[in-house]
Amino acid sequence: MKVLSVASEMYPLIKTGGLADVTGALPSALALLGIHMRVLLPGYPAVKAQIKRPKAVMHLDDLFGVRASVLAVRVGQVDCLVLDAPELFERAGGPYTDASGKDYPDNWKRFAALSRVAADIAEGSIAGWTPDLVHVHDWQTGLVPVYMAQGRAAGTPTVLTIHNLAFQGQFGPEIFAGLGLPVSVFAMDGLEYYGDVSFLKGGMQMASAISTVSPTYAQEIRTQEFGMGLDGLVRARTDDLHGIVNGIDTEVWNPETDPLIPANYGRGSRRRRAINRAALVSRFGLDDAPGPIFIVISRLTWQKGMDILAGIADDLVAMGGKLAVLGSGDQALEGALLAAAARHRGRIGMVKGYDEPLSHLMQAGGDAILIPSRFEPCGLTQLYGLRYGCIPVVSRTGGLADTVIDANEAALAARVATGFQFSPVSADAVREAIRRTIRAYADPQVWARLQNQGMKADVSWDRSAARYADLYTSLTQPRTATP
Ligand code: ADP
Ligand code: GLC
Repeated sequence: MKVLSVASEMYPLIKTGGLADVTGALPSALALLGIHMRVLLPGYPAVKAQIKRPKAVMHLDDLFGVRASVLAVRVGQVDCLVLDAPELFERAGGPYTDASGKDYPDNWKRFAALSRVAADIAEGSIAGWTPDLVHVHDWQTGLVPVYMAQGRAAGTPTVLTIHNLAFQGQFGPEIFAGLGLPVSVFAMDGLEYYGDVSFLKGGMQMASAISTVSPTYAQEIRTQEFGMGLDGLVRARTDDLHGIVNGIDTEVWNPETDPLIPANYGRGSRRRRAINRAALVSRFGLDDAPGPIFIVISRLTWQKGMDILAGIADDLVAMGGKLAVLGSGDQALEGALLAAAARHRGRIGMVKGYDEPLSHLMQAGGDAILIPSRFEPCGLTQLYGLRYGCIPVVSRTGGLADTVIDANEAALAARVATGFQFSPVSADAVREAIRRTIRAYADPQVWARLQNQGMKADVSWDRSAARYADLYTSLTQPRTATP
């Protein structure tokens, strides 16, 4: 089966979050199941700098008023298609924002163009390779099923994966005329959303199936609390909604071979983590007082509960813990965490920014990873934590609820516990979870058991890739109804 995957980021070429990890790892996992996936993504400067000997497979003289081409290139084990449209994508800032963090005003056009080209490929524009199914990710590619529905690829099935319902790609109605879509689409059962244009809503209406990145989040987004204004549509499409939990790339994230950490280790040689812990302590300017080191690797946002973290940082230290934070995002939150680090030199360290190698060292040397998200479609850092023996301490929501087994008495006795869960997402509940974690850390036997069980957990793509494959199969070979 041939599948075109369309996304705005893909590790290792360009990454701002978990979406890139997923789009980068899924193709290899699916290849083992006989699915040939090609990934179409924009030619940002970082992408173009990394691709070698690309081959042009498609030329467009007028893509929303600019010239463009599609470059085929192999990146590691993944077949990529890079949309080379310099006017749209070769800019100094990030994929979505300029250097000062402001959204590009023409984001609607940039991602409509990506979506239009995906639909062209579905219609057969690349000689010799027409996909049997198109799998799109998040609002940036929400228009793919909309464009496809208008043309020759209307019969090709589509899957839309929602990685985060909070980001919907909503634009004023004035952009509609620029999309090249029939007026009939600007309607309640199309992409119109309270008078605006919503890329994600369009995709949710038109895709053959919708998936999201954990079973619990698939349930949550049916409710008003988590539905971000689209819960009605989610409910209307329940029969076509699937919750498939993310896996991780177990080659990139393997403590036994990870080249980004000072000491490699496995389940049987966990003692070597001490070498990584020492490197972490020195990198974050922590002291050698006893007590667990909690790590945080996160976008600093309200979604991630970082305001609550800042609020309880003093208590964490008072209880005997230490804290190492790597992140960037909301400036007020950055400021609050830097202030906490200044108040507690030696106990709290903070590195502002985005640093992939440092994130590996933290997982390999930290004792527990704290994730107090208010909502979390899946979350990947708890999966990296499990694999690296860094115990996840997480709120009971979305994918966090699905991937961490709380260390209650029964789970401990049954030797299945892998971390700590708390609910609700409040300062009190986080404090209590930290207290439980510190107590468990003080008992080496309990702690070793938690680490061991976490490191044994299957966090690979194996099971979930099979679920995507089943979904693709059910859509490409619809069963005939039994009379
Ligand atoms: P989200 O995509 O919502 O930000 P995920 O947990 O799914 O959350 O994925 C985040 C990804 O980004 C993980 O791979 C994590 O290690 C990485 N990450 C987040 N913040 C940083 C940072 N400041 N430096 C390095 N990696 C980061
Ligand atoms: C989004 C979600 C995160 C998820 C990631 C990859 O960024 O916020 O929970 O893990 O996508 O699916």
